[in-house]
Amino acid sequence: MERVRLQKYLADAGIASRRKAEKLIEQGRVFVNGNVAKKPGTSISKYDVAYFDGKKSENNNKYIYIMLNKPSGYITTVRDQFKRKNVLELLEKINFRVYPVGRLDYKTKGLLILTNDGDLTYKLTHPSHKIEKTYIAGVMGKVLEKDLALLRKGVDIGGYITAPAKVSLIENDGSRTLIQIVIHEGKNRQVRKMCKAVGYNVLSLKRIAIGNLRLGDLKEGKWRYLSHKEISLLGK
Ligand code: URA
Repeated sequence: MERVRLQKYLADAGIASRRKAEKLIEQGRVFVNGNVAKKPGTSISKYDVAYFDGKKSENNNKYIYIMLNKPSGYITTVRDQFKRKNVLELLEKINFRVYPVGRLDYKTKGLLILTNDGDLTYKLTHPSHKIEKTYIAGVMGKVLEKDLALLRKGVDIGGYITAPAKVSLIENDGSRTLIQIVIHEGKNRQVRKMCKAVGYNVLSLKRIAIGNLRLGDLKEGKWRYLSHKEISLLGK
């Protein structure tokens, strides 16, 4: 029967990184089948029951939740006729099949959640739930206040009028303006199309938050498991 090390088990359950899980084990905060497990080398099978701080660990090797800082130049869809690099290639050492929650364009960077939890994917992507997504767009030229106001109100992106958005100017250096755009819809290439609709080309685009979950300082191309707190921020 397959056994895994306890720290990996806890990491896969999204409780902590493997290193942190080792510390939690050493601190005596983890119990397996009712006994404190103080040795990080302890192995565990799917028939064992692990408790962390008195709560049953959710890992029956069931759901995992990951955040990735997607670099430009990767696709998030499963199939691609051009054989471009896929974000899943950045998730080395994960033995689970996870799927990106929603899409980011090939060139868009930033926060991408990956999970095998279909309920959460549905919750975060279904338009009726209106989960806010926060983007930083670098656009060509100086963006006028009147155009920010149009973006806030809603613009026509080709037969579809976007819902009111929260839009703010971050900085402008004459040739380029950084704006923050918060939308709760997920139309294809929506931010790029919104900017285009008011006359600006997007030079760079990065997602920095989904709901209350923020990308923080995770390096580009890197991923990590979400903590329990972060998973609950997403409404789990
Ligand atoms: N809007 C875009 O234009 N692209 C993305 O990847 C996400 C939102």
